[in-house]
Amino acid sequence: MKLGFYKESILELEAVIEEITARLEVIRKYRKIHNDRDPIEYIISRIKSEESMIEKLKRKGLEVNLENALTKIHDAAGIRIICPFADDVYDIVKMIKKYDDIKVIKEKDYIKNPKENGYRSYHLILKVPLNIAGVVHKIFLEVQIRTIAMDFWASLEHQMKYKKNIQNQKMIVEELKKCAEQIATTDINMIAIRNMINKG
Ligand code: GTP
Ligand code: MG
Repeated sequence: MKLGFYKESILELEAVIEEITARLEVIRKYRKIHNDRDPIEYIISRIKSEESMIEKLKRKGLEVNLENALTKIHDAAGIRIICPFADDVYDIVKMIKKYDDIKVIKEKDYIKNPKENGYRSYHLILKVPLNIAGVVHKIFLEVQIRTIAMDFWASLEHQMKYKKNIQNQKMIVEELKKCAEQIATTDINMIAIRNMINKG
């Protein structure tokens, strides 16, 4: 079998994504059985491409090798959890923190503290133990948790970042920031409406 940049470690990266996704799917099923609302809209995952891993290692002034890619960079494996509502994001964070075998290495709440451009999302870097053929490997995993609306915004903003020679860049940046604030207000209003519907 032909292995790429990650060599055999691709197995660990795939396994950590499967492990956390499976745990979250159990939570979703548990909620459904108990007639509770599903706090997850959907989950996506990715293994960082060889090209962007090499670019990131170089950008951070690190030697390009597998060891650094798996230990100094913490997002070789990543999952993104998209929630219907903003309070679901915190619900998910709380549940992830309850797994006592998983260590939270880094935590950034860009919802309470949005980035200057308006980016909102909750980021966790986890260290997850995986028992593979009797040997425990500790694997880093980046988890991004955000609402459907925040994700909508991030997708468009991401497109702008990777496009060269955009005209009216300054205006677009301002418009995006305005939209991010409107989205944040809408996310809050949606919770209020949901609560009114559920009460009635
Ligand atoms: P990295 O070196 O890129 O990992 O930065 P960091 O260590 O400061 O991590 P941070 O938590 O800020 O960002 C990690 C990831 O979140 C990025 O790789 C993006 O996927 C996403 N992200 C962060 N900031 C933005 C942003 O302004 N816009 C969009 N669209 N995505 C972002
Ligand atoms: Mg990243």
